[in-house]
Amino acid sequence: MQLLGGLLVLCALAGQGRCADASIDWCYQDASCGPATWPVSLAVEFCNGSRQSPININSSKAVEDAELVGFSFTDYDNKLGLTKIKNTGKTVKVTLANGTVSGGGLPNSTYQSLQFHLHWGNGSTQPGSEHTVNGKRYPMEMHIVNVKAIYNGNTTLAVADNESIAALGFFLEELDGPATMASTYWDTLASYLPNITNGGDYAYFADKISLDDLLEGVDRTKYYRYLGSLTTPSCNEVVIWTVFKESIKVSKEAIELFSSTVRVANGTSALLLNTYRPIQPDQAIRTNARPTTTTTTAAASSGSSVTLAAAQMAIAALWAFKGV
Ligand SMILES: *[C@@H]1O[C@H](CO)[C@@H](O)[C@H](O)[C@H]1NC(C)=O
Ligand SMILES: *[C@@H]1O[C@H](CO)[C@@H](O)[C@H](O)[C@H]1NC(C)=O
Ligand SMILES: *[C@@H]1O[C@H](CO)[C@@H](O)[C@H](O)[C@H]1NC(C)=O
Ligand SMILES: *[C@@H]1O[C@H](CO)[C@@H](O)[C@H](O)[C@H]1NC(C)=O
Ligand SMILES: *[C@@H]1O[C@H](CO)[C@@H](O)[C@H](O)[C@H]1NC(C)=O
Ligand SMILES: *[C@@H]1O[C@H](CO)[C@@H](O)[C@H](O)[C@H]1NC(C)=O
Ligand SMILES: *[C@@H]1O[C@H](CO)[C@@H](O)[C@H](O)[C@H]1NC(C)=O
Ligand SMILES: *[C@@H]1O[C@H](CO)[C@@H](O)[C@H](O)[C@H]1NC(C)=O
Ligand SMILES: *[C@@H]1O[C@H](CO)[C@@H](O)[C@H](O)[C@H]1NC(C)=O
Repeated sequence: MQLLGGLLVLCALAGQGRCADASIDWCYQDASCGPATWPVSLAVEFCNGSRQSPININSSKAVEDAELVGFSFTDYDNKLGLTKIKNTGKTVKVTLANGTVSGGGLPNSTYQSLQFHLHWGNGSTQPGSEHTVNGKRYPMEMHIVNVKAIYNGNTTLAVADNESIAALGFFLEELDGPATMASTYWDTLASYLPNITNGGDYAYFADKISLDDLLEGVDRTKYYRYLGSLTTPSCNEVVIWTVFKESIKVSKEAIELFSSTVRVANGTSALLLNTYRPIQPDQAIRTNARPTTTTTTAAASSGSSVTLAAAQMAIAALWAFKGV
């Protein structure tokens, strides 16, 4: 997952597509700025840390924990929940209008859902999820980024809290079954990609899609939990990871549009491919306890939310706190 914005802005101000100081920029594909260089040339302190993400999840080592109950989601049914879709030059990011997450064994706090973005490989044959499960890499992974609402924009407090971000990871996989079971919502989302082919391009949603629509078919009571980091520089170790066991089923066409449409920069620049960080050392993993009854209720409710703009600022400012 990534908190994007500030760095690219700084690079743009510096003049060219690359930063004046090449050690600041990062990328996935180029050996000069790829993941192996992150701990060396950028944010050494964090990318070299001891709770880095992503990881391989070894399901046989996941310890069942009765505290890992269902989540409460608010406004995930908001059909106007997706506002803007942007090619950041590193990922495709969707800004959210509102929404909160709580429960799920998270600290006793409300987390605000600010954005989600995606990680992918190269088409449906070369998978590109960030987390893997028992060595399996999925075609794509969606990360919903949620920040503790209580900080309400105070970055100083947010970065000092090693649980300030709750990231929700969902695997995307090609539908293996009747075509009518594939999520048409992901086809709709992917249909915006031709409008944002160049780095920095963005478009506003005209279609009405909710987060619930995009998460259709996933049992959100079944998940893995571990403490980790941002998966992009500056790799801050402030993330409570939730990785859901069931994948979102999408069409092959939707997956392939990501690796064939959006580019790093202009029309002659490289396609955005293999946008994932390699696996980092294992962390202790917990999982929801198997239900003792057959009834599980997907938690859903309505509630209040705090100022979204303030939280968006916190996200942007998180970039700046290391001085980059
Ligand atoms: C971080 O790791 C890189 C190698 O990956 C190493 O060159 C560098 O010295 C390390 N930095 C720290 C502060 O440990
Ligand atoms: C959670 O926080 C609320 C508000 O601060 C408090 O009323 C409640 O007792 C707390 N619950 C737990 C389990 O700590
Ligand atoms: C991505 O896939 C396409 C089509 O299969 C292939 O031509 C291209 O070489 C691949 N690129 C990378 C970087 O793997
Ligand atoms: C998962 O953990 C088990 C038990 O420690 C081990 O035998 C197995 O090799 C691990 N598998 C992977 C893919 O790491
Ligand atoms: C953030 O919170 C700290 C501690 O409460 C406070 O000292 C600081 O002034 C706050 N910063 C901002 C920008 O509000
Ligand atoms: C998080 O910070 C607290 C102190 O604020 C510390 O006790 C705890 O060990 C830290 N957890 C991790 C996983 O770094
Ligand atoms: C996408 O591009 C097409 C063709 O240029 C245009 O008609 C349409 O309005 C654009 N859609 C959005 C949401 O920007
Ligand atoms: C397109 O971007 C590449 C870097 O990806 C750059 O080298 C090239 O000059 C750019 N071309 C134009 C016409 O801006
Ligand atoms: C979230 O946005 C929707 C649509 O604008 C609105 O109906 C809903 O009341 C909002 N939720 C909150 C908590 O403000």
